[in-house]
Amino acid sequence: MDYLTLNRTAWNHRTLEHLESSFYDVEGFLAGNSSLQEIELAALEVEGKSLLHLQCHFGLDTLSLARLGAEVTGVDLSDTAIHHAQQLAKACGLEANFICSDVYQAGAQLQQQFDMVYTSYGALCWLPDLRRWAELVHQSLLPGGQFYMVEFHPVQAMMEGYSYFAQQEGDVEEEGTYTENASDTKHTMVTWPHSLADVIGALIQAGLRIDAIEEFPFSPYDAFDNLVTGESLGLTSDRPRYYQLHQGKPIPMVYSLSASKPKALE
Ligand SMILES: C[S@@+](CC[C@H](N)C(=O)[O-])C[C@H]1O[C@@H](n2cnc3c(N)ncnc32)[C@H](O)[C@@H]1O
Repeated sequence: MDYLTLNRTAWNHRTLEHLESSFYDVEGFLAGNSSLQEIELAALEVEGKSLLHLQCHFGLDTLSLARLGAEVTGVDLSDTAIHHAQQLAKACGLEANFICSDVYQAGAQLQQQFDMVYTSYGALCWLPDLRRWAELVHQSLLPGGQFYMVEFHPVQAMMEGYSYFAQQEGDVEEEGTYTENASDTKHTMVTWPHSLADVIGALIQAGLRIDAIEEFPFSPYDAFDNLVTGESLGLTSDRPRYYQLHQGKPIPMVYSLSASKPKALE
């Protein structure tokens, strides 16, 4: 079976468990909570902007961005996730466009370019080729548009036993999911490691200008083994529960990156 079919099947199943989890807290979202975390909330100004969310899962972040005033389009491989994203948008009375597509095929279905492209936590490892991904980001942005991503750090993945460096063959594993209500059901999934240099290099090669990059010694999500709860480490928060891999010295858990598509004369 090809990797897209395997990963789609796994994410369809995961989505059904995620919808019922307190990890994703759909009930809280419906009551008005934002699913966005402090890192991205501090960085993003989306009001009045058109925004493309790549690998949007079942749309909580996409719709949280819509609540902040963005005009949102979300893309995801999982038809189950996209179906529920559309249902959630309806339930909340929010305008949103959701497209079920592989990232690499999404360009054909996008009718416009965007002020912003956004992707977050746990997205890049599902993509074998970052050059094609970065080209889509570039092609989807209006001149002067901004790309923002916040992602789990490859050093954190390395501490879990994955390669730091890119590899031709994906890692094939039988996995359940990471939410507190995970069942014993496992599905075959295929992922690829990407070093920081590969991410940055792919974006530069596609024609984007890197404006900022930041590394964080904590994750806002309790999504991996052996994490301990840390303090907020300097960011002001009403949600002081951050998760760290405790090794005596801080381990980079998350990074954020902001880039822009130069205007023609820059
Ligand atoms: C960990 S979730 C991303 C969650 C994200 N932080 C959010 O906004 O909710 C990863 C998502 O990537 C999607 N995905 C995996 N491979 C993909 C592909 N080739 N094209 C598009 N989406 C993909 C999965 O269906 C899943 O919804």
